[in-house]
Amino acid sequence: MAARQPRASPSLTAGVLLALAALLSSPLVVQRATAAAPFLPWQVCRNSGNYSANSTYQSNLQQLSITIPINASRSPVLFANSSIGAAPETVYALALCRGDTNVSSCESCVAAAFRIAQELCPFDRDAAILQDLCYVRFSDLNILSILDNGDPIRMPSPQNASSSAEAYDDAVGILLNATSDAAMNSSRRFATGMEDFDSSSRNPAIFGMSQCTPDMTPTDCRRCLAGIISTIPQYLSGKEGGRISGLRCSFRYEAYNFLYEELMLQLPRPPAPVPAPTPPVPTATDALRGAKPSGNSASLPLGWEHGGSEDDIMPTATRDRSLVTVW
Ligand SMILES: *[C@@H]1O[C@H](CO)[C@@H](O)[C@H](O)[C@H]1NC(C)=O
Ligand SMILES: *[C@@H]1O[C@H](CO)[C@@H](O)[C@H](O)[C@H]1NC(C)=O
Ligand SMILES: *[C@@H]1O[C@H](CO)[C@@H](O)[C@H](O)[C@H]1NC(C)=O
Ligand SMILES: *[C@@H]1O[C@H](CO)[C@@H](O)[C@H](O)[C@H]1NC(C)=O
Ligand SMILES: *[C@@H]1O[C@H](CO)[C@@H](O)[C@H](O)[C@H]1NC(C)=O
Ligand SMILES: *[C@@H]1O[C@H](CO)[C@@H](O)[C@H](O)[C@H]1NC(C)=O
Ligand SMILES: *[C@@H]1O[C@H](CO)[C@@H](O)[C@H](O)[C@H]1NC(C)=O
Ligand SMILES: *[C@@H]1O[C@H](CO)[C@@H](O)[C@H](O)[C@H]1NC(C)=O
Repeated sequence: MAARQPRASPSLTAGVLLALAALLSSPLVVQRATAAAPFLPWQVCRNSGNYSANSTYQSNLQQLSITIPINASRSPVLFANSSIGAAPETVYALALCRGDTNVSSCESCVAAAFRIAQELCPFDRDAAILQDLCYVRFSDLNILSILDNGDPIRMPSPQNASSSAEAYDDAVGILLNATSDAAMNSSRRFATGMEDFDSSSRNPAIFGMSQCTPDMTPTDCRRCLAGIISTIPQYLSGKEGGRISGLRCSFRYEAYNFLYEELMLQLPRPPAPVPAPTPPVPTATDALRGAKPSGNSASLPLGWEHGGSEDDIMPTATRDRSLVTVW
């Protein structure tokens, strides 16, 4: 698919300022290690309904925003999921820290994510926040019992790889397949690795990680990762780095080492791909994505906004933010 086209949006500047304000005013926001990292936090506000000030929903959410950061950071797998309150004011929430974080950075990241959600998605009953070191989602839908990855957040890095997109994408696919194979069988459902690429270029190596929520079975975890890895040519093609993060699984790769612990896998340089004589034919996924969304809620049970075009698969907030990604 072609890159997302910039569109004018009056709410853009306000959104950026808000996000910056959130970053600057929150001392607990985990600072990013490198200037090359994408603009975070990234929020997805579902906009399906608001709670009101002093409501039961707000107080339920408030309680989770205190206990979940503690439970996730104390958990050996850096994960917490919980629900609180009687229907219809039940709040479901889930938090997952990157597998290479420690207790303190996990706790502050998750706590900050809840606070940022209040600032960037005010009164929204359903929001997701992605930061470098954690992912948090809360909802009035039971997100704890589903395996679907929702509508994942996709972030290409601005820099193009030094080689052909095809060779780089292939190498990335091999690396992430390997980290995903390792992640599915680990208790944290997390694995990291590096792969030699082209020592004579700007991209001598590629670094990557794969992760699932640890409550997934190995098979479901691997299936989830295969799903997002298969969309690399569509969304991240030729980019030096990128990430796709959903409710259930995520990956990230970069041309530099962004990981805080020793890498688990080391892969040799992959063989050069056989050059394709013709451009790749659209895949079944492309066809599905191009198709009009009918009443098929099976693939999007989380209720993200879903318009008619491929672009519209991006949740509204993500789409807006994609215009102004500041690196
Ligand atoms: C929720 O409240 C925000 C402002 O607080 C407003 O912009 C938004 O339209 C409301 N959403 C719904 C679904 O009522
Ligand atoms: C919520 O409670 C606070 C403190 O009790 C009060 O100041 C505020 O007016 C209340 N807001 C609403 C909308 O009821
Ligand atoms: C946090 O952990 C405690 C002890 O394991 C558990 O009782 C509680 O339900 C958990 N709360 C949340 C919000 O996860
Ligand atoms: C936790 O990790 C952060 C980096 O993410 C580091 O700055 C901090 O020193 C670490 N804290 C401990 C107690 O290891
Ligand atoms: C929450 O996660 C734990 C694993 O950490 C899992 O056993 C449990 O089933 C999950 N709860 C729900 C409601 O999905
Ligand atoms: C990356 O490549 C794309 C497509 O070839 C091109 O449009 C874009 O300007 C390049 N970006 C950079 C930062 O070089
Ligand atoms: C990664 O694994 C999938 C199967 O899960 C396979 O279809 C794909 O070709 C692999 N990618 C690469 C680059 O080897
Ligand atoms: C994961 O572990 C199972 C056995 O527990 C094994 O059969 C399988 O090959 C392992 N998968 C990978 C990718 O290592």
